Amino acid sequence: MLNGKKIVLGVTGGIAAYKCVDLASRLRKQGAEVHVILTRGAQNFVTETAMREISGNPVVTSMWGEIHNYDVEHIALANLADVVLIAPATANVLAKAAAGIADDMLTTTVLATRAPIFFAPAMNSNMYENPVTQQNITTLQQRGWQLIEPANGHLACGTSGIGRMPEPAELVEVLENYFAGADDSVESADGNTMDNTMDNTTDNTMQGLKILVTAAGTREPIDPVRYIGNRSSGKMGYAIAEAAASLGAEVTLVSGPSALQPPAGVEFFGVESAREMRQLVQERFPACDIVIKAAAVADYRVKNVSDQKIKKNDAELTLVLEKNPDILKELGEMKKPHQTLVGFAAETQNLLQYAKGKLEKKNLDMIVANDVSKPQAGFNVDTNLIKLLKRDGSIEELPLMSKKELAYIILDRVMKLRM
Ligand code: PMT
Repeated sequence: MLNGKKIVLGVTGGIAAYKCVDLASRLRKQGAEVHVILTRGAQNFVTETAMREISGNPVVTSMWGEIHNYDVEHIALANLADVVLIAPATANVLAKAAAGIADDMLTTTVLATRAPIFFAPAMNSNMYENPVTQQNITTLQQRGWQLIEPANGHLACGTSGIGRMPEPAELVEVLENYFAGADDSVESADGNTMDNTMDNTTDNTMQGLKILVTAAGTREPIDPVRYIGNRSSGKMGYAIAEAAASLGAEVTLVSGPSALQPPAGVEFFGVESAREMRQLVQERFPACDIVIKAAAVADYRVKNVSDQKIKKNDAELTLVLEKNPDILKELGEMKKPHQTLVGFAAETQNLLQYAKGKLEKKNLDMIVANDVSKPQAGFNVDTNLIKLLKRDGSIEELPLMSKKELAYIILDRVMKLRM
């Protein structure tokens, strides 16, 4: 139904913007030509690079940038669109559109287009239910805009209620129904309205699942004031824990020392050494459905830790190191069929070969391979460059993206493994 259709995807600044990476990918897989407009707010949640790679087209982020192709930019996008989809649509964009304000590329496009406009509001339930927002939605519907009702569920603000953006698969279905000529294109195939079908049919909702995430580096003591550590900040693991919580999972985060605040709604345990991490992880493992080990665990610890601060009397100091337990490998040996085990591999060379070796040796379902020799990837940066290796031998390569975006993609792939 979507083959050859030109879809202008307007993304505004809400947490659900992360879903647009998946949405654009699905639309493209269906054969649609996807043109993305990111508002300024949206760029806080999703990057232009990611959307360009996924959509295969230049991404419009401003009205004032250099124009590379007049066929797809400025008012041309309004003319070119077979359909405009705004997802997520914030209260702000709805208010602006209802008032006819055109102060950025997206609002200019929707004012100028004659194509049908679908909008998927996503926001805190109080904002959604506020009479001002409801009045704006009614105004837009009266002008022929198609509302895709938000779903009920766990919201990023920590509450539950109406305001979740429907999952990408549902949005694709709405557009398919529209192009198939389904009468009231916001009805699903079985005739239920969208908000009735959202809760149980989403691709990656994690409601009811227990997930354990490890993050940051362990510290192995040398004496009371010194330790052996590594450069892991915890950003990757914390992003996964936060994303899983926002998808409704019951999350336990076991973390080495980190400057980050534990995400809201997550059961948190701070540890220092590999052996402390191992104890907590092993205690919780039997009750878990999913374990994702993003922590950088020290492979060795000091054999004889000094009780007192070591004095610098000698020109040389020799520390004897002994091997730490491999926590992930032990979990791989204990794993039950219903459990999904995901590891990370931080490599500076032979990325795929070493990652594949770890996937097999540690009996994992998936391994996230990151080439930590690349700038903006790996330790202590906000972005990462990863490849996902699964047991069926498949390898998925992802472009450079923020760790927050990648967290949702990793969880989406985990959920697909469990289907
Ligand atoms: O925290 P950030 O600054 O955001 O950086 C993120 C990261 C680079 C640390 C993260 O993306 C990452 O790659 N984490 C794994 C780092 C690592 O220790 O890789 P490894 O190849 O040495 O270990 C492979 C896997 O076995 C990992 O899942 C690790 O948690 C686990 N392991 C390793 C050793 C050990 N003794 N026990 C383990 O469980």
